[in-house]
Amino acid sequence: MTKKRRSAAWYGKLDKDGFIHRSWMKNQGYPDHAFDGRPIIGICNTWSELTPCNSGLRDLAEGVKRGVWEAGGVPVEFPVMSLGETQMKPTAMLFRNLLAMDVEESIRAYGIDGVVLLGGCDKTTPGQLMGAASVDLPAIVVSSGPMLNGKWQGRDIGSGTDVWKFSEAVRAGEMTLQDFMNAESGMSRSKGVCMTMGTASTMSSLVEAMGMSLPTNAALPAVDSRRMALAHLTGKRIVEMVDEDLKPSDILTKEAFENAILANAAVGGSTNAVVHLLALAGRVGIDLSLQDFEIGSGVPLLVNCMPSGQYLMEDFCYAGGMPVVLKELSHLLRPARTVLGGDIAAYHDGAECWNRDVIRAFDAPLKPAAGLRVLRGNLAPDGAIVKPSAATEALLEHEAAVHVFESIEDLKANIDRPDLPVTADTILVLKGCGPRGYPGMPEVGNMPIPRVLVEQGVRDMVRISDARMSGTAFGTVILHVAPEAQAGGPLALVRTGDRIRVSAARGSLDLLVSDAELAARRAAWTPEAAHYTRGYAKMYVDTVLQADKGADLDFLVGKDTRLVTRESH
Ligand code: FES
Repeated sequence: MTKKRRSAAWYGKLDKDGFIHRSWMKNQGYPDHAFDGRPIIGICNTWSELTPCNSGLRDLAEGVKRGVWEAGGVPVEFPVMSLGETQMKPTAMLFRNLLAMDVEESIRAYGIDGVVLLGGCDKTTPGQLMGAASVDLPAIVVSSGPMLNGKWQGRDIGSGTDVWKFSEAVRAGEMTLQDFMNAESGMSRSKGVCMTMGTASTMSSLVEAMGMSLPTNAALPAVDSRRMALAHLTGKRIVEMVDEDLKPSDILTKEAFENAILANAAVGGSTNAVVHLLALAGRVGIDLSLQDFEIGSGVPLLVNCMPSGQYLMEDFCYAGGMPVVLKELSHLLRPARTVLGGDIAAYHDGAECWNRDVIRAFDAPLKPAAGLRVLRGNLAPDGAIVKPSAATEALLEHEAAVHVFESIEDLKANIDRPDLPVTADTILVLKGCGPRGYPGMPEVGNMPIPRVLVEQGVRDMVRISDARMSGTAFGTVILHVAPEAQAGGPLALVRTGDRIRVSAARGSLDLLVSDAELAARRAAWTPEAAHYTRGYAKMYVDTVLQADKGADLDFLVGKDTRLVTRESH
């Protein structure tokens, strides 16, 4: 019998309650010694056939179980809500906080001592981490891993990134609809997450940089046998972590978040990392603000993956993956503990780069200063962000008249109008797509280029909204404007014909309209009627924080680590 564990409050009791907890579990064939005080390890699984990116997680759970048994623990797999980014309406982001609640309450309610988080698709990783952080039991991540490289007509194609390009090419008449359809199956050739440096691979890269997974977790392809071995090793490690009482709060320090921000710049990571890291920091009580992301702004782009570069995650893996990136950043990395117990420096010990075109050296980068830029001004008093590595450099300093779309419906109805009064210089503004407005802050900020301009060969314009954009997307797209239009932010007051000035260099975003005129417009403004009046969506709209606070629900910020003592019977 080892030391008394959390699970002893369920399985260690010799009374009626203990009988009930053990007996019902034994209907699955567990022997007596499964409940002799050894650690019970939860495997929190977001497997779902409606989340294709996570459809390999059942197999990986078996790998984790092998490791847990080997180390003397008892693995118990349980499902939580799964969020299929490409399948859910109105947007998977609406449900990230619901998944976090599901994870938190499942971990808290059951008699487990530690948990392995199996996720991958964009919102599943942050949702699981947020929930686990709020209970603060020992926790470790195993990700789905990326799909194999997309292949079509003899070349590599990338999830998402090439869909946007193909879609514009069809609208410009440069690609046939038949070719467009044919590319579908070539793009998604195996289980796993998007194989570009989209949000899923960004988040798994940052999880590795924060030390919440074992090294190499981010890039190993989903179908690579070494990922199964990684799952096995993770199962072994979580049992040790329980004995060491190594919890998320020991790992997710301010320094760990700073390392994630630095890594996000170096990998050309998704803008979505901003809302996820802010929300996660809120769960563990770390004072992280939008301004903290500026520490990444001078960090060079090292990883040559779409959408900021040309390669895909499989190439990134074979070049050495995150250990090489962390080695290149080692002079910037903050000391921080990891799931291995030691410092993050151990994650790049002995790392070697096998392809310098895919992972550049710090002093020979793909782009010199690639981190996200935070913009502020009278259009975004609480901030907005832009991703320079995926933008057109000349457009990062820009002033022009705007064309406003009041809603996503307005945009869809009018973007292809032949008489849309826009030029390549026009700034497109989209309202009503923030956390409360849509609701759920969808990935529509990279609005399509108007057809009249696509036909003239225009492929990028300055676009501004309170939305997010897919991590696989690109362009000079200013996102997460806060406060959002629906919350009465200045974005709500912009009208077609106004002028906006953007300066990424100065970090500014200004609406060139007088204060008196804006005050008059505000007096006449009313928010749109709520789209949702019941259920989770109503709770979300009523309590969601703005983008600069991570779009968590206000009552979910923080944690509650108390043991639940009341019984159900
Ligand atoms: Fe699931 Fe991209 S849609 S990872």
